[in-house]
Amino acid sequence: MSTFQTNSIKNIHKLSVAPMMDCTDKHFRMLMRKISSEVLLYTEMIVAKSLVYTDNKKKFLDFNNEEHPISIQFGGDNPEILKEAAKMAQDWGYDEINFNVGCPSPRVSSGNFGASLMKDPLTVAKCIESLKNSCSLPVTIKHRIGVDDDDSFKNLNNFVRYISNAGADRFTVHARKAILKGLNPKQNRTIPPLRYDVVKKLKKLNPELLIEINGGFTHIDESLKALNDFDGVMIGRSVYKHPLRWSEIDQKVYGINKKTNSASTIIFSLIPYIEKHLTNGGKSWDICKHLINLVEGIPKAKIWRNQISNKSIKKELDIEYLLNLTSKLEKMGY
Ligand SMILES: Cc1cc2nc3c(=O)[nH]c(=O)nc-3n(C[C@H](O)[C@H](O)[C@H](O)COP(=O)(O)O)c2cc1C
Repeated sequence: MSTFQTNSIKNIHKLSVAPMMDCTDKHFRMLMRKISSEVLLYTEMIVAKSLVYTDNKKKFLDFNNEEHPISIQFGGDNPEILKEAAKMAQDWGYDEINFNVGCPSPRVSSGNFGASLMKDPLTVAKCIESLKNSCSLPVTIKHRIGVDDDDSFKNLNNFVRYISNAGADRFTVHARKAILKGLNPKQNRTIPPLRYDVVKKLKKLNPELLIEINGGFTHIDESLKALNDFDGVMIGRSVYKHPLRWSEIDQKVYGINKKTNSASTIIFSLIPYIEKHLTNGGKSWDICKHLINLVEGIPKAKIWRNQISNKSIKKELDIEYLLNLTSKLEKMGY
């Protein structure tokens, strides 16, 4: 049974898979559900304005039933637009809304949202209030420990308390500051040092707040250890690049039977889903690009990856071919 309680701020998710543009789409999330039935999944960031003004809402909102619990992440700075977006997310069946105040991309900052908003707590508070008032879903926020020179602990603490008063139900803190001028988004995920100590102090001073730590976690056991200090741990790149490394999540974090750690079992179980996607005119690469990380460490993994990528990219991959390749993995014991 899921430990998730929809519409309740008690939904303390111990582990989550970070929102990642071009990675955590609905296909990857389906793959993750074969690895953990419990971990909280996030969408990629959706610009609220794009959702509200498009005629094709499905393109932004669509997800599969199996993906619950799922949080939709919005980027934006306009409370009225966020209000509309929140209603749509609730009607579509999402479990939670997350507000992005951590993205350092220049494109995002030039629209005055993402990490740059940390310098404008008043606007963030208005956005959170608006999201809260327009739906009954939990509203959470993902942010950094600081931005540029605005990086004192006092400011971070004030920010979190202020946003908590505005109604935020959980804080996901990426434990490094963002440097908006001079570093690109990738550098902003590696160069500013990780400061778990700062987030630890934040939790210690605000024990009543739900604080999830993010940044640099690469193994389940170190994540479990972090749960002694934080209410949750969010993992990004490591889950995407090494999904099978995380196959013990359900057992070790949630105390329930672990799902599979076999690449072939996962791919076989996704076959009906892939078949449906292809029948509906979808491209095989949409899904297969996520499968190639499943064969990490397997002998001749490179050949398997090349075969699947070449066929997919040439639009020649069909289910028979995928079944055949996957059977080879199964015979090798993977
Ligand atoms: C390719 C990529 C795309 C990302 N896209 C988003 C995003 O859409 N929204 C967001 O809040 N963070 C985004 N992030 C940041 C991650 O959510 C996470 O905070 C960061 O990678 C640090 O966690 P990690 O060290 O576990 O990867 C992205 C990261 C990567 C690598």
